[in-house]
Amino acid sequence: MKAIVLESAERPYVYQEVDKPTLGPGEALVQIRAAALNRRDYWISIGKYAGIKYPSILGSDGAGIVAEVYDDADKHWLGQEVIINPSHDWGEHPEYQGKDFKILGLPEHGTFAEFIKVKTEYLHAKPAHLNWEQAAAIPLAGLTAYRALFTKGRLKAGDKVLIVGVGAGTGAFALQWAVAAGAKVFVTSGSGEKIERARQLGAAAGVNYKAQDWAEELKHMAGGFDVVIDSAIGEGFAKIPDLCNPGARIVLFGATAGDFPGFNARMFFWKQLQLLGTTMGTKEEFAAMLKLVNEHQIVPVIDEVFSMADPAKAFEKMRDSSQFGKLVLTT
Ligand SMILES: NC(=O)c1ccc[n+]([C@@H]2O[C@H](COP(=O)([O-])OP(=O)(O)OC[C@H]3O[C@@H](n4cnc5c(N)ncnc54)[C@H](OP(=O)(O)O)[C@@H]3O)[C@@H](O)[C@H]2O)c1
Repeated sequence: MKAIVLESAERPYVYQEVDKPTLGPGEALVQIRAAALNRRDYWISIGKYAGIKYPSILGSDGAGIVAEVYDDADKHWLGQEVIINPSHDWGEHPEYQGKDFKILGLPEHGTFAEFIKVKTEYLHAKPAHLNWEQAAAIPLAGLTAYRALFTKGRLKAGDKVLIVGVGAGTGAFALQWAVAAGAKVFVTSGSGEKIERARQLGAAAGVNYKAQDWAEELKHMAGGFDVVIDSAIGEGFAKIPDLCNPGARIVLFGATAGDFPGFNARMFFWKQLQLLGTTMGTKEEFAAMLKLVNEHQIVPVIDEVFSMADPAKAFEKMRDSSQFGKLVLTT
């Protein structure tokens, strides 16, 4: 089979012939029809991620058709159209992942290949209203945004939500999930065009975080926020406590723009704010996210589709962050 192989930091995406995986107990072979990139794949490709090993096949997001199963008990999966949960071996505590937790696509071979082997417990029926590219876009970013909003942020209909940096893959999903849940969603972005795209997807309004007075403008527009989803942090975070309503939940799972700046601690405790970290999600959250997608017939935002045989352009676009929504590779 063909796969994109991470040979070294200098040769991060070589499309070449590799051995097709052989199955063990509990496993299925999925013929990948589409896969999607995450920021994680980019960090690994440039050597900036813990536990990198060469050679590896990256890719956490994928959708395809079950071609083989090992166990007779799994035969009902044969020929099924599936999407793959990349959040593996979560562990016994729903509150946090255990020590064996791993994300598909390093250390185990991922979805940037014609075939992947994966335990059947991580297979889910592909939402019928989505094509391969749309289905493949969901798993990692969709799951992270789902847990951040609902489990950690305890979002409910009518809440006011701020999504910082809506152009992030996770940002677009957080927007779509929150709109479906009946929240009033505001966004920030470094691009006016992306704010406009967010409005078309149901955001009430947005501001450009590069403007001097972005926080004041946002406060004027929205009043205050009950939930803030921030995967950028950096200098801009200093303004977040002031934008929060009393009792607000601020959820973070990334720090694209850097670590915490100084911020007003007194405002933080006086308003009884909660700062919550999150990463990926449980099997139950993955299933609940797909239920939301199916019930609301949500269609993920695809920025561009590339051929798996020529992945360099997709990685370059991820590096430049010029996309809105997901970058997808098709076989
Ligand atoms: N812990 C986890 O489980 C988990 C899962 C997924 C992602 N992550 C992390 O979460 C972050 C987002 O990941 P991703 O793949 O969704 O998206 P991404 O492509 O890494 O997101 C980049 C986006 O961050 C926004 N941004 C950059 N600088 C900013 C600033 N100064 N202020 C506000 N926003 C800024 C930009 O939004 P605009 O384009 O709108 O300006 C940009 O498009 C990354 O750090 C990633 O490593 C963690």
